[in-house]
Amino acid sequence: MRVNNKSYKSIWIDDNEKIFIIDQTLLPFDFKIIELKSLEDVINAIGNMQVRGAPLIGVTAAFGIYLAMHQGNSNIDLDNAKKKLIATRPTAINLKWAINQIEEVLLNIDPNHRAAAALKIAKKMSLEDEKSNVKIGEFGYKLIENIYKKKKGTINILTHCNAGWLATVDWGTATSPIYKARDNKIPIHVWVDETRPRNQGSQLTAWELQHEGIDHTIIPDNTGGHLMQKGMVDIVIVGSDRTTFKGDVCNKIGTYLKALAAKDNNVPFYVALPSSTIDWETENSEKIIIEERSEDEIHYIRGKDLNENIVNIRITPDKSRGSNFAFDTTPSKYISGLITENGICLATENDIRDKNAK
Ligand code: MRU
Repeated sequence: MRVNNKSYKSIWIDDNEKIFIIDQTLLPFDFKIIELKSLEDVINAIGNMQVRGAPLIGVTAAFGIYLAMHQGNSNIDLDNAKKKLIATRPTAINLKWAINQIEEVLLNIDPNHRAAAALKIAKKMSLEDEKSNVKIGEFGYKLIENIYKKKKGTINILTHCNAGWLATVDWGTATSPIYKARDNKIPIHVWVDETRPRNQGSQLTAWELQHEGIDHTIIPDNTGGHLMQKGMVDIVIVGSDRTTFKGDVCNKIGTYLKALAAKDNNVPFYVALPSSTIDWETENSEKIIIEERSEDEIHYIRGKDLNENIVNIRITPDKSRGSNFAFDTTPSKYISGLITENGICLATENDIRDKNAK
């Protein structure tokens, strides 16, 4: 998508097979491209959230396996790389999905040819992710179009965290239907949840929408319920870090509260995700490991001061403790439907299997 009218993806590989990402920890104030040269670079980039968002984490990890194979090529290297990558972020299932897919192929390949094979798979995954998001956009657009046909006015879409192009390779999941609606001239306005503590909404989603010229308003995380009561939200679309085959959705902390408010106010609540985000092994969503991050993310906030300097300041009392669960789970009963590259389905095991099982 566009940044200052130039097209970018969140990860790309050039003709010399150098891998680049946008350092998302510096946005929205600095736009910096960095090269990932080694497995260690990839591990740091995922762990420090220079790249984040379930689909992008998966694709980046795939390139990480390639880099590991490029550096050395024994079984031990593969196992080591796998373990280190999986340990970076426990909740987003795409990480395991991508690594398992690559491992399955590489284990049957002569070690000398593994790097080339890993690169081919990583490139394919990257392309597939883009294609999935385009399809998600087409299917999700139909929901927006239907609301527009009745309302005949601006469609207000609420989204949480960043399930935009920065969280995927391109287009985003929750944002893809928004871009499709814009391209089809449907008037849209997006309520962007700030998404404390890391502010992926106010710092990343808002930045993306601004560069794409989409009308949007940043709201504190507690505002969504009020807007829904006042009829100011037509549809909620969020992303997912892991969706169980039973239809429970694990996503950025705060998603659950939005789903509750949506249910109480009859606002459609949809989740947009590639099928690679479906966890076919976990039946009980309580078993999903919820990442707990440093409490510093709560105590400190990064921003621009009045002199345009980027500063990190403490916003809580020095001795207060913080608790930082990064994700929560929304039970399937609160979800109107799942939008995947295969179509829209109910958040039920039957429908999920019907539409998405290979
Ligand atoms: O902690 P993050 O920033 O990686 O969390 C991202 C989210 O929760 C997104 O909503 C989710 O990954 C879906 S991305 C298309």
